[in-house]
Amino acid sequence: MSTEEHLHTLAIHAGEDEGLPDVAAPLHMASTFRYASAAEAAHAFETEERPIYTRWGNPTLAMLEAKVAALEGGEAALATASGMAAVSTALLTALQAGDHVVATTGLYSGTYSLLTRDLPRFGVETTLVEATNPDAFAAALRPNTRAIYLESPGNPTLALNDVAAITALARERSILTFMDNTFATPFNQRPLELGVDVVVHSATKFFCGHGDAIGGVIVAPQDFITRALKGPLRTFGGCMSPFNAWLIARGIHTFPLRMARHNANALRVAEWLAEQPGITGMRYPWHPAHPQYALARAQMPGGGGGVVVFEVAGGEQAGARLLDAVRLCTRTVSLGDTRTLITHAASTTHRSVPKAARLAAGLSDGLVRLAVGLEAVEDIIADLEQALRAV
Ligand SMILES: Cc1ncc(COP(=O)(O)O)c(C=O)c1O
Repeated sequence: MSTEEHLHTLAIHAGEDEGLPDVAAPLHMASTFRYASAAEAAHAFETEERPIYTRWGNPTLAMLEAKVAALEGGEAALATASGMAAVSTALLTALQAGDHVVATTGLYSGTYSLLTRDLPRFGVETTLVEATNPDAFAAALRPNTRAIYLESPGNPTLALNDVAAITALARERSILTFMDNTFATPFNQRPLELGVDVVVHSATKFFCGHGDAIGGVIVAPQDFITRALKGPLRTFGGCMSPFNAWLIARGIHTFPLRMARHNANALRVAEWLAEQPGITGMRYPWHPAHPQYALARAQMPGGGGGVVVFEVAGGEQAGARLLDAVRLCTRTVSLGDTRTLITHAASTTHRSVPKAARLAAGLSDGLVRLAVGLEAVEDIIADLEQALRAV
């Protein structure tokens, strides 16, 4: 069975089917769970072998966690309130005052702010290094470096980190590698097989897939997940709602199917954009115009993902006119939904990143991010074509 076929099976069955009469996974929308006696309550708190309180764990969350752990090929997982709760809980589990982090420049803006503004207030320092250069990661290491943080492809530049090269140097020095796999997903890229220790996700995107729930997941060895759960998840309190876990798990049933179509549609749109005289700087990991095309094909064997970026000839103003002219594509942030979403990154998702840092990461003023959906690709292209004519 190929990995892809296996993922189709795991997406449906993993975490479910365990001794329950329900064919569809039940939703345990309870904040707390009752005990038959005081002794049973005391025993439950001592052993934590049964549901106690949803911030401590919940059967619906456990179902989603088992599913995502299986999809990533990891030992265990932890559901969190959002992708940012996954990022912050994972880092807070590993780091303490005096520690140093080396991170890629190609970061989602929330992660950028966490690493450069919030964690420094607690004595954790971060050095950002050029995403595409593994030697820059090696050069930035210090004796107190405890974590390397990767996001590949980066949001929204689609710059790749050479994950195997970077994890090799981290392992030599017993440094933990964290990686945000939201853009690629385990359908396209297998971070744990590339030597990553802790994978984080915004489950809001391709896992949920329908744009109706915010959530995050951490996948890591069991001892790390236990420390995250009993530590920052419980005390900082970023637990996922069981309802969101149920929606996201339901979305995951079709995640591999959707991902195959996101990949195919995005590649076709990228090919079309590359031929348009009105478009410059088109980038898509599986298109030869991407400066790291060879690495993308090797590191993302399942496909290039659902996001394409480009600029409109004529710069930022022309990009704004394109955004105003689209009819089928939805003008908004986020990615991984059934519908195609389009946004101007510098003024929306990455507005909070200082301009110099944004430009250093390769995020130009005019960059348009297209999160290609599942519609008929001819309709997506026709919409972009009429919008380009209106620019
Ligand atoms: C790559 C990446 N990581 C993390 C996040 C944060 O996820 P959430 O919005 O679910 O907190 C996002 C959100 O856009 C993202 O694109």
